[in-house]
Amino acid sequence: MSLNPSLEFRELASQDEQQAIDAHQSMLADDFEFLPTWSMAEPWEDYIYRMNAGRRGEHIPDGWVRSALFGAFDDGELVGRVSVRYELNDFLLQNGGHIGYGVLPEHRRRGMAVALCQFGLAEVGHAGVDSALLTCDSMNAGSIATILRCGGVLDPQLPSLEAADGSKTLRYWISTQSNH
Ligand SMILES: CC(C)(COP(=O)(O)OP(=O)(O)OC[C@H]1O[C@@H](n2cnc3c(N)ncnc32)[C@H](O)[C@@H]1OP(=O)(O)O)[C@@H](O)C(=O)NCCC(=O)NCCS
Repeated sequence: MSLNPSLEFRELASQDEQQAIDAHQSMLADDFEFLPTWSMAEPWEDYIYRMNAGRRGEHIPDGWVRSALFGAFDDGELVGRVSVRYELNDFLLQNGGHIGYGVLPEHRRRGMAVALCQFGLAEVGHAGVDSALLTCDSMNAGSIATILRCGGVLDPQLPSLEAADGSKTLRYWISTQSNH
């Protein structure tokens, strides 16, 4: 497997404000936060400062872990994002895991999610994570296929978790070594 060569992955910057906020609004329909923890009330510069500081392990709220957010750009156009957590806490062990990704609707079914997931695996792998946890809703066929394509294996001890509303979260592990 190789990363989609035309994609550029980088931290979000000042010039990405409009594209990123448009992406955030468009993916609310999927019940997906393109810009994790962002709200309209937060100035863009403050948000990217906070995200990029988090990657360096600075300004991390109590109980949170070091994390980073990357935009995926195809010829300058924002097509998706991948967020990575460099370690797990109790919450992430149940739900969230090391890597989360989303692809804008108009760019789906072209292998973007697989490329995003592979980038996330390489990123946490370089930071010393040998096996990455990915979680997803049992009804999310696209994400399940992405995880399987990247080598995901259901957690033998806790393959799924059921919430009070009946929704099920699947928990997969992927070796980061085969994805470097
Ligand atoms: C799920 C999502 C990331 C897939 O993105 P994508 O770029 O279309 O995925 P890819 O083109 O890389 O396809 C990866 C695999 O998923 C399959 N797939 C993608 N969308 C699918 C769908 N809606 N139903 C069934 N399979 C789907 C593809 O066929 C491919 O499988 P294959 O390699 O076995 O052929 C995208 O639909 C999305 O962003 N959804 C909203 C956010 C989200 O659910 N994020 C994941 C949270 S865990």
